[in-house]
Amino acid sequence: TSRPYVIDEMISAKEIAARIEALCREIRKTFPSDERLVVVGLLRGSFVFIADLVRELADRDVEVDFLEASSYGDAMESSREVRILKDLRGEIGGRNVLVVEDIVDTGYTLSHVVNLLKSRLPKRLQTIALLDKPSRREVDFRADLIGFDIPDEFVVGYGIDYAQCNRNLPFIGKVRFIE
Ligand code: PRP
Ligand code: MN
Ligand code: MG
Repeated sequence: TSRPYVIDEMISAKEIAARIEALCREIRKTFPSDERLVVVGLLRGSFVFIADLVRELADRDVEVDFLEASSYGDAMESSREVRILKDLRGEIGGRNVLVVEDIVDTGYTLSHVVNLLKSRLPKRLQTIALLDKPSRREVDFRADLIGFDIPDEFVVGYGIDYAQCNRNLPFIGKVRFIE
């Protein structure tokens, strides 16, 4: 984690905002306007995305909840072992649920969480990921809604970390090692 690197911008804050508007139009079509939507963010990476998403859904009755899942720790490689570090506060049985994730890489994290939450018998459960790296997939899984398909680059920013750094960048950038 001590190799020097720079970050090259890949997706600007403006492009992200425009994509979120379009994604929310899809969410409105999927879930009935007269029923509450439970928006579940996977900590920690989704905290920026979920904040922008739920504010774009200000016309809806939204409940926000969080679940903490971790598989990378400080490493660049998935451990392929998803640990649930914090469970939801609320019940989701019989309710409309949207699970919000920053990025799907091997697919282990989101597929594991979906299996866990489906066992609680929600009325309808959908997943949204801002980024998808289909070339890295190791389990058969695709989010229902995807912001951007990206190539196999190590990305940071907009909630996504490298060794717990760079989550606070307002854009998505790729890590480029120097020397
Ligand atoms: C990252 C990212 C996704 C997951 C994607 O989380 O935020 O949750 O990995 O990888 P996968 O598809 O290979 O499972 P991480 O485990 O780093 O925890 P964090 O969100 O707290 O950074
Ligand atoms: Mn994560
Ligand atoms: Mg991480």
